[in-house]
Amino acid sequence: MGHECKKITVKDIIARKSGEKIVCLTAYDAAFASLLDASGIDVILVGDSLGNVILGYENTLPVTLDDMVHHTRAVARVVKRALIVGDMPFGSFQPSVEQAVKSAVALIKAGADAVKVEGGGPVLEAVSRMVSFGIPVMGHLGLTPQWVKSFGGYRIQGRGEEARRHLVQEAKALEEAGVFSVVLEGVPEETAKAVTSSVNIPTIGIGAGACCDGQVLVLHDLLGFTEKVPRFVKKYFDMASAVKESVTRFIEEVRSGTFPSEEHVYHD
Ligand code: KIV
Repeated sequence: MGHECKKITVKDIIARKSGEKIVCLTAYDAAFASLLDASGIDVILVGDSLGNVILGYENTLPVTLDDMVHHTRAVARVVKRALIVGDMPFGSFQPSVEQAVKSAVALIKAGADAVKVEGGGPVLEAVSRMVSFGIPVMGHLGLTPQWVKSFGGYRIQGRGEEARRHLVQEAKALEEAGVFSVVLEGVPEETAKAVTSSVNIPTIGIGAGACCDGQVLVLHDLLGFTEKVPRFVKKYFDMASAVKESVTRFIEEVRSGTFPSEEHVYHD
């Protein structure tokens, strides 16, 4: 599609702070990843939203490192330009700093250019160790889905002055630990603005308003795979209706004998 094929690096992403907006989408397989890449997306996140979107879990907690490695490999096989970020799933970094490094190494070996880890204070040591070994790390603050049980549901985080100050501190600490960018999820726009203006690394928002340095969405939400989506999602397509309509037509045509027709048949 005429997009320059020079691979995007973490340095390119850092250079976009306060510049051209960074555009990121999730992908979990080769088919979608190659379409996103050809469309000119900057960052492909192999997110642990894999659990909800592809694997049918209620939340991201059951997703394993093996799941993430498997899907990161599929994406990395076809992507030529976009920066690939592999998400560190629940359980892959909590036990120890060593475990975190080992998990990050597995994602890099699978083809990720960087990893993403959820949380602030508790992950700082792991972040600096990963960074010291040359593994680029993306942070993730706010409504971090791996904290769903302690949040008591998917609730907007960082509301009010005190929570805002806390989130700004966490973002600064992550920056100091070496992250090259930070996802801000499910926070008021005022909080995203305060964080964005307090750090020198790009912020990438999801449900965080318009003032971040970039935006990320879950691909399947954007394409309309499900009827109900959160307020922050814009549906650009109605995939659910398109799939149901096509499959219904296929069923009807097979049953009525109109498919396959002559044009789809081989002869001697
Ligand atoms: O797993 C994921 O898709 C994510 C994005 C929502 C940021 O972490």
